[in-house]
Amino acid sequence: MKFTYYGHACFAVQAGGKTLLFDPFISPNPLAKKIDVNKVAADFILVSHGHGDHVADVIDIAKRTGAKVIAPFEVGSWFENKGVKNVQSMNHGGAAKMDFGRVKLTSAIHSSSMPDGSYGGNAAGFVVEADDGKFYYSGDTALTLDMKLVGESVKLNFAVLPIGDFFTMGIEDAVRAAEFVSAKKFVGVHYDTFPSIKLDHAAAQKAAIAAGMELLLPGIGETVDI
Ligand code: NI
Ligand code: MN
Repeated sequence: MKFTYYGHACFAVQAGGKTLLFDPFISPNPLAKKIDVNKVAADFILVSHGHGDHVADVIDIAKRTGAKVIAPFEVGSWFENKGVKNVQSMNHGGAAKMDFGRVKLTSAIHSSSMPDGSYGGNAAGFVVEADDGKFYYSGDTALTLDMKLVGESVKLNFAVLPIGDFFTMGIEDAVRAAEFVSAKKFVGVHYDTFPSIKLDHAAAQKAAIAAGMELLLPGIGETVDI
């Protein structure tokens, strides 16, 4: 599967012939300056929770592309109130068939409020199953035993996990999360954007290798085959 990194926790995956864009936070991110947000493609925009560093560009990209926004209920309703037409609000444990395959919302241990302070429900993660592969994006979360349920039910090609610490899992817990979901390969996100989440890249790679895992840290704007 093709994976494109847009910085912070924003990435796109080509799955089932569609472009799935996750947690768009591009225009406010100084590290992603070279990305032209007006050219970012999306057939679906999957939003894990309401925090600004995950939703900043959702409305603009959704309106430009007509992409379907898939989000936890309160987050999706907030976007509908902002004039986004094509929204599929879901909730934890629920799965739905989409043009690309199947998506299921998983639990995440994190908070969620919208940029204007309104209630954002509970933060979520996603399991995506398409004909060409399966992956799990945890969203912002602490390590949780619930992740073992993902590993028990789906054979993943890869996982996408926050590794920046401070607001989410750090690398040690992310390695354990990868073990819990039985992924040998994971992409690290949610690091380096702010001083509090600066990552020691060499130490992170070392921790992954010591656990027999492959940690991918694509550059911003880079597309890799996973
Ligand atoms: Ni957050
Ligand atoms: Mn975040």
